[in-house]
Amino acid sequence: MTFREDLDLAADWVESYRRRVSDLPVAAQVEPGAIRSSLPGSPPEQGEPFEAMLRDLDEVILPGITHWNHPRFFAWFSNTASEPGILAELLIASLNVNNMTWLASPAATELEVTVLDWLAQLLGLPREWHGHIEDTASTATVAALAAARTLKPGGVVYASEQANFSVEKAARLVGLEFRKVDVDDAFRMRADFPLDDATAVVATVGTTGTTSVDPVAELARRCEDAGVWLHVDAAYAGSAWVCPELRWSLEGVDRADSVVVNPHKWLFTPMDCSTLWTRRPEVLHEAFALVPHYLAATQGAVDLKDFGPALGRRFRALKLWFVLRWYGAEGLRALIREHVRLAQLFAALVEAEPGWEVVAPHPFSTVCFRHVESDNDVIARAATATGELFVASASLRGQRMIRLAIGNEQTTEDDIRRSWEVIRSCAT
Ligand SMILES: Cc1ncc(COP(=O)(O)O)c(C=O)c1O
Repeated sequence: MTFREDLDLAADWVESYRRRVSDLPVAAQVEPGAIRSSLPGSPPEQGEPFEAMLRDLDEVILPGITHWNHPRFFAWFSNTASEPGILAELLIASLNVNNMTWLASPAATELEVTVLDWLAQLLGLPREWHGHIEDTASTATVAALAAARTLKPGGVVYASEQANFSVEKAARLVGLEFRKVDVDDAFRMRADFPLDDATAVVATVGTTGTTSVDPVAELARRCEDAGVWLHVDAAYAGSAWVCPELRWSLEGVDRADSVVVNPHKWLFTPMDCSTLWTRRPEVLHEAFALVPHYLAATQGAVDLKDFGPALGRRFRALKLWFVLRWYGAEGLRALIREHVRLAQLFAALVEAEPGWEVVAPHPFSTVCFRHVESDNDVIARAATATGELFVASASLRGQRMIRLAIGNEQTTEDDIRRSWEVIRSCAT
């Protein structure tokens, strides 16, 4: 077989997978160790044909795959490997650029800077900020806190008790103490805690639990007065800013020091792609810039390795560029609006059903709900075990609840109605 023939086989596989994914059980239902025990214990001595690998992908690997690209995947935050994203990943691997410095591939750096400027415009962020891509929001937050630490070493990082655990992990990694701040009735971080010992505050727009929005404007005002770094974690909900009617949640972000948004969550870009902007690039630079003798800087160029922890950097800008061009601002707005509409529809179905309640505001595409009498973990597990959909359960104020997070491009109203019927029937 030639490489060209293998490429055709891969293309056929991808096309057929996308057509049949909605008929597969969403969550893998295998016991720990099941896939490992089906795999050979040692690598082959002789090379094998691509066909053999594709066969094993279907027979051995697929039964253990949870289909994130399934239209009824609603666990954690669902996402989309869109067509432009998939095509771009093939080209990214073909080019195999390591975008560590400008000299390492000038177009990769300049495309990244350009695409981050495009995305800043689409999201309503200040265009003069520096933007670059990290693998994940976890890494982006490490970068932001490392920058904050150069200004105020040894202090405390404050974040909402509803903040993603990656914030606490980042604080730990950069050697800063982490303290949780209480939330109000709508699960928003309170803004009245003392800042005397603070190095940084992390506000979240779209918390992982309930998608609540912290009072960023008020926190920005206080952080400015106290000389404290404000980082905004908008990993999930930042994508909503493409829609003007959802920009209420952007209020105050322009006064933050840094903000992270994950196109790999709700902007139809395959894993991984996390965008970080800062209005103080010189502080990130101070935290990360080192110029070894074998990587001399180029006069007049920016070296993106100087703004984050990693030296090796994938050419992620290519997939983000393809996604933004493929959908256009209009297409992105239409998808986000549809997901928000579907979430409101789902919440209405829950509210209308005796014995069920929605337990948190749902301004975006995620709904938290519970059955008031039954065990919600059991319901979520039973609904997922049908293979029809995947929902996860979580805790809120000491009670277990179920989260339904919409974010896949292919999800339709029919998927939402069908999923509600399955979940409902699992409570009886
Ligand atoms: C609000 C929020 N921030 C940060 C993260 C971490 O994102 P990543 O997996 O890109 O590190 C998540 C993950 O779900 C999240 O929900």
